[in-house]
Amino acid sequence: MSLYDDIEKVLIPEDVLQRRIAEIGAEMNGLYSDADYPMLVCILKGAFMFLADLTRQLAFRHEIDFMEISSYGGGTSSSGVVRILLDLASTIEGRHVVIVEDIVDSGHTLTYILRHFAARRPASIRVATLLNKPSRREVDVPLDFVGFEVPNEFVMGYGLDYAEQYRNVPFIGVLKAAVYQTAGDTSVPH
Ligand code: IMP
Ligand code: MG
Repeated sequence: MSLYDDIEKVLIPEDVLQRRIAEIGAEMNGLYSDADYPMLVCILKGAFMFLADLTRQLAFRHEIDFMEISSYGGGTSSSGVVRILLDLASTIEGRHVVIVEDIVDSGHTLTYILRHFAARRPASIRVATLLNKPSRREVDVPLDFVGFEVPNEFVMGYGLDYAEQYRNVPFIGVLKAAVYQTAGDTSVPH
């Protein structure tokens, strides 16, 4: 049995993802220059693949850094309680920052990150998220670059996991209900 047998459907194919990421890159290329070059902060683990493809579309000088965030409880929905597992290696004071996220769902994770960053006095902050699930929003968050809006389904692949798996899948998809049932997970689909 391959992990691909667990997938119910493809929501966003690989070529569509790549075309949209190139568009976001082009948009960023119009906004940033070497003179005010930003730091891209990849929110681990989900955004690692988006960051890797996005950074290769950028023509301006930039740095990358990583931050790992975790919601307490795990599972498939964010509790609103967030903690930092890995903090930035660099200082962002006076720097232009682009936060690179995989998906904004309730908005709690990003709200926490933005508050945390604002306290460090960056020159500017923009947010790039590959996916947006607006139907699930509990707190309003400003998004500067959005790859795709997704419906109220639990999505996986292209960096996004279910129970730490499927991150390697090169497209965004939805798992079969049997996968959650086998895991005894009643919180999905949400
Ligand atoms: P929020 O705090 O509810 O906005 O959730 C943000 C985090 O929850 C994301 O960075 C993901 O790690 C995770 N997440 C939310 N929805 C999904 C999904 O559909 N698939 C995979 N991970 C998700
Ligand atoms: Mg996750």
